[in-house]
Amino acid sequence: MTAIPAAEWREHLDTMITGLRDTGALTDPRWIEAFRAVPRHVFTPHLRDSEGRDIDVAEARQAWLRRVYQDDSLITAVTHEPGLGTDVPTSSSTRPGLMARMLELLQLREGMRVLEIGTGTGYNAGLLTHRLGACHVTSIDIDPTLIEDARCRLHSLNLAPHLLVGDGLAGVPDHAPFDRIIATCAVPGIPLAWITQLAPGGAMLVNLRGEIACGTLCLLSKDATGDDEVIGPFLGIAGHFMWARHDPARALPYGIQSTSERDQTRTTTDPGTVATIAHDVANPDFRFLVQLHIRGIRTLAAPPGQPVPTTIHAAATDGSWATAHIATGKVAQGGTRRLWDNLCAAHTLWCALGQPPPTRFGVVATPTAQFAYLDHDRNWTRWPLPLL
Ligand SMILES: C[S@@+](CC[C@H](N)C(=O)[O-])C[C@H]1O[C@@H](n2cnc3c(N)ncnc32)[C@H](O)[C@@H]1O
Repeated sequence: MTAIPAAEWREHLDTMITGLRDTGALTDPRWIEAFRAVPRHVFTPHLRDSEGRDIDVAEARQAWLRRVYQDDSLITAVTHEPGLGTDVPTSSSTRPGLMARMLELLQLREGMRVLEIGTGTGYNAGLLTHRLGACHVTSIDIDPTLIEDARCRLHSLNLAPHLLVGDGLAGVPDHAPFDRIIATCAVPGIPLAWITQLAPGGAMLVNLRGEIACGTLCLLSKDATGDDEVIGPFLGIAGHFMWARHDPARALPYGIQSTSERDQTRTTTDPGTVATIAHDVANPDFRFLVQLHIRGIRTLAAPPGQPVPTTIHAAATDGSWATAHIATGKVAQGGTRRLWDNLCAAHTLWCALGQPPPTRFGVVATPTAQFAYLDHDRNWTRWPLPLL
C-alpha cells in the first residue's frame, strides 16, 4: 500500500485517541504518545466486511480510514473450519480500547522484556516497540504470512522487534526470560512454557476462556523467588480473543465430534427447574461458572430460529449434547456425558455460591497442576484447568 498522506488520517487518529482517553482506556502519557506515533491504518490494509469480502481501500479511502480509527476490532484473516462448515476469523486487529487497557495493565517499565503471543497485524508489537525499544520486544505468530506482512509494516515505521513464526504456546525459549507476557490469542489453560519463561517477579496477561463466556482476561504474576507458579485474578474485562491453534491452516484448536443415535437417552424432569435455568442461561456470571464446570462446553442457548425460546440446548466439543423442553420438562441427551445433568449441577452450585461474578474467581497455574478458584487460592471450591 502506498503511504497515505498524514493530512488524510491524522484527524481520525486524534479522534480515536480522544475517545480512548474519554472512556478511561488510555491514561498513561507514554502510551498516548505511542498511539500517536504508531498509526493503526498502516497495519490494517486488508480488511473484510461482515460477509467476508475484501474491502477496497483505494475506492473508499475516507470511509475506510473512519472504520480503521473506530474503537472496534477488525477482522483481517479468516479460515474455513470444516467442523463448523463455515469461515472462522483467524486474525484481527484487536479493539484499540481493549489493547490500550491491556498495555496499561502490564505496568511496563523501561528496560523490561516483553513477549507477545499472536503478532497478527503487528499493530500491538509496534506500540510495544515504540515504548520499549526493538531489542526488548519479541512477538510470535503461527501464521507465516502474517509475520511477513507485519515485518514490512513495522519496517515502514522504522520499528524492528524480534518477530518469529511458530507455535507461541511453546513460548520463545531463546529470548527468555520475559518480564511480561501478553497473549492476544486465547487459551483454555496456561501453557507450561509461559510459566517457566516468565522472569521472577514477572506478570502475564492472558485471555483464559472457553466457548460460551467472555470477560475472562487474567492477570497472573510470579513472585520474586522465581518458583514456577503464577497466580492472579480474573479481571472481568471483556476480551474474547481468537483461539491459539497448533495448525495455521485450522481455525479451532479442537475437533468437534458427533454422537450416534445409540448414545441417546430421554427423560422428563420438573418443568420448573427447566424454566429457572432457562431464565439464567443468558446471565454472563452463570455462563462463566458453567464454562469452568463443564469442560469443553461450546453452546448454551435456545436453538436459533425460536422467536420465544421453548427449549434450552447445550453441546460440547466431545459431541455430548442435551435439549430440555421448557413447558413439558422433557429432556433428551446424547454422547458420553449427560450435559443436562451437568448443567443442573452447575446451576445448583452457582446459586449455593451466591451467584458469583467472574471477578470473584482467580487462577493458580504450575507446570503440574492448574485450577480456577473462588475468592481465595486456598479455597477448596476450585475447578481444574487443562495442562498445555
Ligand atoms: C487477535 S489476533 C492478534 C492481534 C495482534 N496482536 C494485533 O495487534 O494485530 C490473534 C493472533 O494469534 C495468532 N495465533 C493463533 N494461534 C497461535 C499460536 N499457537 N502461536 C502464535 N500465534 C497464534 C493468530 O494467527 C492471530 O494472528
